[in-house]
Amino acid sequence: MIEAVAIALVLLVGVLIVALLGSRGRLREMRRHLDRSKSELERLGNSVPQFLWKASADGLAEIVNHRFSEMTGIAEVGTSMEVIQGAFHPDDVEPFFAEWARAREIGREFRGYHRLRMADGTYHWMHAVGCPQYSESGAILGWYGATSDVDAEFRAQEEVRALNQELKSLVEERTLELKKTRWRYRTLFDDPSLGVMELDFSEAKRALETLREEGVHDVEAHFEHHPDHWDAMITKVMLTDLNAAFAEMCGYTDGGDALRAGRFGGTQLCSRETLSKLFLSSLASDSGGFSLTTEISKVDGSRLVVACSIHYSQDCIATITAVDITERETAHDLMLAAQSELARASRAGSIGAFSASIAHEVNQPLTSMAIDIETTRRLVDRPEVDRAKLKSMLDRVSRNAKRIADIVTSIRERIRNRRRDAQAVKVCLMIEDTKTLLHREAAARRASLVTHCTVGLRPVFADPVELQQVLVNLVVNALDAVVDVPEEKRTIDLHLDPDGPDRIRVRIADSGPGIPPDDLDKIFDPFYTTKTNGMGIGLQICRSIVEALDGELRAFNRPEGGAVFEFSLNTVPASAEIAAAG
Ligand SMILES: Nc1ncnc2c1ncn2[C@@H]1O[C@H](COP(=O)(O)OP(=O)(O)OP(=O)(O)O)[C@@H](O)[C@H]1O
Ligand SMILES: [Mg+2]
Repeated sequence: MIEAVAIALVLLVGVLIVALLGSRGRLREMRRHLDRSKSELERLGNSVPQFLWKASADGLAEIVNHRFSEMTGIAEVGTSMEVIQGAFHPDDVEPFFAEWARAREIGREFRGYHRLRMADGTYHWMHAVGCPQYSESGAILGWYGATSDVDAEFRAQEEVRALNQELKSLVEERTLELKKTRWRYRTLFDDPSLGVMELDFSEAKRALETLREEGVHDVEAHFEHHPDHWDAMITKVMLTDLNAAFAEMCGYTDGGDALRAGRFGGTQLCSRETLSKLFLSSLASDSGGFSLTTEISKVDGSRLVVACSIHYSQDCIATITAVDITERETAHDLMLAAQSELARASRAGSIGAFSASIAHEVNQPLTSMAIDIETTRRLVDRPEVDRAKLKSMLDRVSRNAKRIADIVTSIRERIRNRRRDAQAVKVCLMIEDTKTLLHREAAARRASLVTHCTVGLRPVFADPVELQQVLVNLVVNALDAVVDVPEEKRTIDLHLDPDGPDRIRVRIADSGPGIPPDDLDKIFDPFYTTKTNGMGIGLQICRSIVEALDGELRAFNRPEGGAVFEFSLNTVPASAEIAAAG
């Protein structure tokens, strides 16, 4: 019995040993399997592009895969939160971990963005997702998570966002511009003096293209030969808009009436000529414009003159602006009439000036002649006729008669704007002649005429009659002036001096009272005179003659008293003088 128990025990032990050996083998097998699974899991974990992590229930890192080290270049990550946070962008640490803490508090899945410093020092945007792991009782055991590099996607989104923003602001800008343009356009539309009209040519353009396809090239000639085609074509031009001012110009009470009148051709808004110009040029080119002055026939048949400006755009819309210039045109016509009236008046004025000049200039020689004739008569009445004296008197009368004839011819030529033939005039001789001519007048006023001529000066190129008129007028004025001073002071000096190498200066200085400073500007005005029997044209005649010779007649007062009149003239070049002599 004992043996049987012993055998049984031995058998049992044997069985147990065998069983034990078997289970150890299985255990080893299971461990190997587990190791294989673990390393596979690790390989899998490290092969995904994200970095994977496991955190404890209170948020501390427990496992971080190799991807983190690869991305950041941080070799030893371990489970240190400081190391992990240190790779975060400083601006993102606080908001990211606050959000992470909130997710742990309420135990929901966590999603958050942050920038991570890469091994090359740049920051990449990362997207972290963490999921809680629960125990059977529902308590959070820890967190599993994956963080993906979303930088490229993020930047692409940002670029799209920036582009969108740019697009938005561009659209806003354009809308604003469009609004402003529209507003400006509407302001023009509301202008009561500016007619604005819009025409749509698109239908007409299509019809024209069809015509061209049918072989019509010279459209203008075609319409000329086929007026019915023109009429048909023009009805295709649509009047799309017009303002009150344009409607009024056309004789409508408001724009609506004109628009309701329908197609443009029916509204008679502008002349056929304008219309064809507008029509053909808008169809010939895609955009452009032109301006013209034309006539508008109003609905009541009356006509308006308008300045028109036409612009057409690529979309076959023509904008026409028009300003009523009927009044301006009428004013222009009136102005032309006034101008021709003025021309007539000025011709009459010239005749007046002609008469006045003649009356003025011939006065002195006529007076002289009258005295000489009277003296001659007395000589003839004497018993002893002094023939020599008689002859000299008659010679003087004859000279004065010739002078009068010359003066009349010279004035007539001047008024007809024709210059008589100029010649080389020796001014010194002319001054002496003037003294002789006015000798009697000077004696009558008890004034002395004194000449001071520099010898050897070259002559000037002038009409001698005119130059003599200047000298006579100036000396007569001086004689009139000196009568206001005591007899012993009545002197008139006639100077001739060089004025530079090529000019001479003539100066007539008197000892009279001078010219009041305020009158210095006025004395050359036509008909300005302070004399009871004066005409006030002597100085004006002198000035115009001197200016025609490229000189300038000036008047001023001498410090010691008396007036001075002076002018300079070009002398004849020495070569011309030799040629003339030859
Ligand atoms: N030498 C002078 N001294 C002072 N005043 C002068 C002198 N010469 C001209 N005047 C002033 O200039 C005015 C205009 O002279 P101007 O020769 O044009 O006309 P007038 O001598 O008055 O008349 P007329 O046309 O008949 O010569 C004179 O009335 C006079 O007041
Ligand atoms: Mg005078």
